[in-house]
Amino acid sequence: MISKTMEDAINKQINRELYSAYLYLGMSAYCESANLKGFAKWLRIQAKEEQDHALKFYDFIIARGGKISLGAIEATKTKWASTGKIFEEVYAHEQKVTGMINALVEMAAKEKDHASFEMLQWFVKEQVEEEENASAILAQINIVGDVPGHLFCLDHELGKRE
Ligand code: FEO
Repeated sequence: MISKTMEDAINKQINRELYSAYLYLGMSAYCESANLKGFAKWLRIQAKEEQDHALKFYDFIIARGGKISLGAIEATKTKWASTGKIFEEVYAHEQKVTGMINALVEMAAKEKDHASFEMLQWFVKEQVEEEENASAILAQINIVGDVPGHLFCLDHELGKRE
């Protein structure tokens, strides 16, 4: 049985993962409107991954006999100044999420909750990948700069994500 403290903290993380999904879907919609279909596709797939993260936490609470509590999801903005600004935000957001996961790991260790600690290791690894992906795309955008032809090549590359 999961403790109330851990249950509350993981329920809060479900909300944050769903907010991440919302944020990336908002960015995807913006890229659609800017006719950057590849960026839009990449971000939409990322939004789906965030939903999967939320469900992984959701299933864990249920498996441990806890209670799911779904709060309101914060609205996101609808416009960004450039693809560079979008990926600066994605990278910063993922770093913030890493901090949240680390705080959960510390809580699980403090509570001697080995099941939560073990489940969270998946997220620790996932965050390494999440930060790496965001920072790599941001670096590519910075190399490409404002040259439209190059940006469209990058858009084409990002659209290959499955
Ligand atoms: Fe759920 Fe992008 O971390």
